[in-house]
Amino acid sequence: MMKKISVISGGSSGLGLAIAELLVKSGKNVLILGRDGEKLTRAAKKLIRISGSAHVNTLVCNIGKESDVRMTGKFLKDHKIVTEYLFNNAGRGLFTGAGTSTSEMIDDVFEPNLKGLILLTSEILKITPEKEDLTIVNIMSTSALAGRDQETIYCAAKWGARGYTEALRTELKGTKRNIIAVYPGGMKTDFWKVPGQNRDVSGYMDPKEVAAKIVHAILNTKGMIVSDITINRKS
Ligand SMILES: NC(=O)c1ccc[n+]([C@@H]2O[C@H](COP(=O)([O-])OP(=O)(O)OC[C@H]3O[C@@H](n4cnc5c(N)ncnc54)[C@H](OP(=O)(O)O)[C@@H]3O)[C@@H](O)[C@H]2O)c1
Repeated sequence: MMKKISVISGGSSGLGLAIAELLVKSGKNVLILGRDGEKLTRAAKKLIRISGSAHVNTLVCNIGKESDVRMTGKFLKDHKIVTEYLFNNAGRGLFTGAGTSTSEMIDDVFEPNLKGLILLTSEILKITPEKEDLTIVNIMSTSALAGRDQETIYCAAKWGARGYTEALRTELKGTKRNIIAVYPGGMKTDFWKVPGQNRDVSGYMDPKEVAAKIVHAILNTKGMIVSDITINRKS
């Protein structure tokens, strides 16, 4: 029998790491992906301490680079591991006026939030046998539901991810693939540590609490299918 795993892009910090913690605690093997190897190692050490019998794997993978994504697919295939859950979580923000957009800014934001999400999903779909159940969880943002000031590029990427998610759901209807769209609001994570951003996020949501809502909805369905999850802070 093939080993099952949950693949989490951006699993080395913030919401992705909080999701990985809950998954290993419930006995699920995880593979966390990120660009920074040292950050991945630190995250893996944290996960291993609480993992019990679950396996923790890391891979340096820039999901916006096709060759990195193919290597991830090859790792899974070579080790005869089948993906049970794919969390497309990696992302980054950018907060600038609409009149300052550059090609570099667009590439930086679209790379994890849209292009990488598509590349990784495509690879996992390709290597996962049709007879196996696969749940794909796309972590977007409430910025995929509304247009926001100073977030034109980020909103464009997240709305793109939402369009992709809806089309994917239509295309995969009737198969053993389940697509879940997640729209979180502001969380206290490294996401806000970007140049020119100094907003007070002390009242934002704790990523661990957001992760708990998501993982509970996904793992404890008992004959139900959760399709869309929006999580906002109270004020
Ligand atoms: N924090 C918020 O307020 C908020 C609100 C709504 C939605 N979100 C969304 O929630 C998701 C998680 O963000 P977070 O708040 O947890 O931020 P975070 O702590 O900064 O985590 C982002 C993760 O994505 C990884 N990453 C970034 N670019 C990548 C790439 N090209 N390839 C692979 N990994 C990449 C980062 O690792 P490396 O740097 O090592 O690559 C890191 O592990 C994102 O999609 C974000 O847009 C966040």
